[in-house]
Amino acid sequence: MTQYWTIYKILAITLASAFIRASHNSCPVMECWFVQEKPGRGGFSAAVSQEKSLMYIRTDPDDSSFMQLHPPADIDLSRVYYVTDPAASFCRAPLHPPEGSVTKPQCEINPFVPHPSTVRWATSLTESGQSPIHLQADWFSVAAQGLDGKLVFSAIMRAPSGSKEPHVILSVSSRTASVHFRLGERVMLDCGFWVDPSSPLSGAGFSVEWRYQFRGEGRLVLAYDGKNDRLADTGEPDAALDFNALHETGNASLILEEAQVRHSGTYICSVYLPNLLAQVALDLEIVGEDSDLGFGQE
Ligand SMILES: *[C@@H]1O[C@H](CO)[C@@H](O)[C@H](O)[C@H]1NC(C)=O
Repeated sequence: MTQYWTIYKILAITLASAFIRASHNSCPVMECWFVQEKPGRGGFSAAVSQEKSLMYIRTDPDDSSFMQLHPPADIDLSRVYYVTDPAASFCRAPLHPPEGSVTKPQCEINPFVPHPSTVRWATSLTESGQSPIHLQADWFSVAAQGLDGKLVFSAIMRAPSGSKEPHVILSVSSRTASVHFRLGERVMLDCGFWVDPSSPLSGAGFSVEWRYQFRGEGRLVLAYDGKNDRLADTGEPDAALDFNALHETGNASLILEEAQVRHSGTYICSVYLPNLLAQVALDLEIVGEDSDLGFGQE
């Protein structure tokens, strides 16, 4: 009996590693705009520079094969990054259209400065002055949008200073960047996050915030301090999270019990870790009960 189990285990491991290799090959590279503020003269300069950049992605930190890849000549070598992404967040299909597609996913990378959050539901995260040494590094944020509104994604990455080898530390994503529901329906706005389990920030607590925006008006829909298991009072009794799913799998999806016209607008799902923040924005449209939803509802 045990012999059979051993054989099954070997088989399973072989299949799993074949699968990992295949999925590694499916996301070798990601084009991205590197955008940063130009050092300003005086306080008014809002000038930004935009440079082509390239991210080679590996999911296995021990795989060094991508260091031998040759970036195209039109990309400055200082803008080539070798990214370790254990959760394969950058490898999802909507970010990698078939060869020759006219439309391309959007991607932007920016320098990121870690800082303690001042919102009430996230201040507990930095009470103890968590891991200041860990913060001494080069930090980046990446925002990407897949094709057909199928994925919005944001990640915070950390690279040892000057190394060009960032690791994804926190990522937040949604599979419903743009979504419709009918009046009266139960609304689910997808949002999930992932924290690198090997990071000192893993297990140091998190907070989740949902904000609503419409034509310049904004309000807080839901705010949850995951460290103290405390929900802020937002005056939105209809909005809820699945707290078990949140703590167990990082499922931060927002539930609105009954769709109303006033719910239409943009929702921002933000996830806080000590000194870090990543967020994605989703568009929700509520349509009449008798509307034809044949326009791309998933
Ligand atoms: C997240 O939770 C919601 C609400 O419970 C559920 O409908 C959804 O399927 C979950 N998403 C994932 C990826 O598990």
